[in-house]
Amino acid sequence: MNTKSEKPNVLIADDSAVMRTLISHVISKLGYNALTVNDGDACIHSLNSEKVDLLLLDLNMPGKDGMEVLSYLQASDMALPVIMITASDDISQAVQCIKMGAYEYLTKPVKNDRLEITVSNALSESSLKKKVQLLEKELKQQNIFRRIYGESTSLKKCIEQAMQVMETEVNVLVVGESGTGKELFAQAIHSGSRRKNGPFVTINCAAISNELADSLLFGHVKGSFTGANSDHTGFFEQADGGTIFLDEIGDMNLDIQAKVLRVLQERKIRRVGEKKERNVDFRLISATHKDFTGAIKNETFRADLYYRLEEYPLFIPPLRERREDVPMLANHFLESFCTANNIEPLTFSTSVLEKLTEYDWPGNIRELQNIVRRAAINRSGDEITSVPLLSQTVTQEETASPPTPVGEYGKTPPPEPEEQRESSAPASFSGAPGQGKEFMLKKAELQTIMKAYELTGGNQTKTAEILGISRSSLYRKLKKYGIEKNLSLSVTKEI
Ligand SMILES: Nc1ncnc2c1ncn2[C@@H]1O[C@H](COP(=O)(O)OP(=O)(O)OP(=O)(O)O)[C@@H](O)[C@H]1O
Ligand SMILES: [Mg+2]
Repeated sequence: MNTKSEKPNVLIADDSAVMRTLISHVISKLGYNALTVNDGDACIHSLNSEKVDLLLLDLNMPGKDGMEVLSYLQASDMALPVIMITASDDISQAVQCIKMGAYEYLTKPVKNDRLEITVSNALSESSLKKKVQLLEKELKQQNIFRRIYGESTSLKKCIEQAMQVMETEVNVLVVGESGTGKELFAQAIHSGSRRKNGPFVTINCAAISNELADSLLFGHVKGSFTGANSDHTGFFEQADGGTIFLDEIGDMNLDIQAKVLRVLQERKIRRVGEKKERNVDFRLISATHKDFTGAIKNETFRADLYYRLEEYPLFIPPLRERREDVPMLANHFLESFCTANNIEPLTFSTSVLEKLTEYDWPGNIRELQNIVRRAAINRSGDEITSVPLLSQTVTQEETASPPTPVGEYGKTPPPEPEEQRESSAPASFSGAPGQGKEFMLKKAELQTIMKAYELTGGNQTKTAEILGISRSSLYRKLKKYGIEKNLSLSVTKEI
């Protein structure tokens, strides 16, 4: 779009040298740049090589005539205002040009004042149209990406890329460490696509076993195997007309990879126990926190499938590479936590926000969300003045889920298996004081759990939810501290 300092370029395509001179004169007088060509081919060449804001196009020219140039513009989707210059006996053709999208036509001899008005109007209308389109784009962006907080350049770049790809049917592979927002981006791409009113079906590839794969992915008919008591629609059929999201695609085993590749190629599925094939119409988005290079090399991931998945790779940077987003995210999570739990608004002290910004966030945004929730639960006033950053020790399993195996994107070291950590922890929390940092961290964790219980009136599901962990993880923690029996006695309300 033209900036104030940039003059609009007006291209004049006419085989008459006299006309080109006359029109150029008027255009320059209006303060615009006049560019001239004398036939249709040169006109098309100029349109492709120069920034042109308005085209004055003679209908009758040697080589490609005005009508052909107009057809070319239409076919190539060039949004450009065109004013046709016609001889007075070409009126019916001129009308035809208007139908093909020309802004206006002027008949020869062209009167200067009429030319001036038409050119000015065409340019201001087109500039207004561009502004409206830009605003519409911004509005759409705000709406679709409203749940994605952050203002860092790298996040904005991700949003820009997602905006570009979302309206296409291209397969997108979202890549990033755990908790960076891969699923959030996948959902946003779906809601900005033409499939937005269709379903968004998520498949956790790590959770699909070979035995159940066919039935889960493609469905089955009643009686096709023991336990198939009714017809079942598989994931791909459920996603018909919408988007299928293959989460943790790097964990998909080789047999299932072959099945998925076939559906991608054929766009057809067959339910278990059924002969007929069904067409499925879906758009594919997948996500991974793994680097595929090694897996492809050692043939645990099919290269042919990988290249289909990553038609458009979208890299979501880890939080430590966009630290400037931390305060905004922390404030957002704090505000939504207070609203959801009917707590008076809370704020973070400046030093806490600084501490959060300096921290490396191995569990990324999910970890930040959990820390904020805990800080809100443990508050002692309206302002939060301290945050225990526990994640690298006792709370790793819920902040950096799923655990980070070697060969992943990012530098997070692999955490210990949960069993090992659980067994090395004291069976109960009644250990003697003075056990150092680990003791203090466990104490802080237990206090957080107890406060969360208080806040939810003893509801285990809600307690797990506000702590950002699963119910089983909460149960394991209670067991670890040897207090689950006491708690279950005191916890009577459970919705
Ligand atoms: N930019 C963001 N703004 C607000 N919330 C975010 C943002 N990014 C992520 N979140 C939130 O953080 C949590 C983790 O995001 P999400 O599940 O999309 O991450 P992920 O990359 O898919 O993680 P994983 O690899 O562990 O599956 C979610 O609760 C999500 O809503
Ligand atoms: Mg995810």
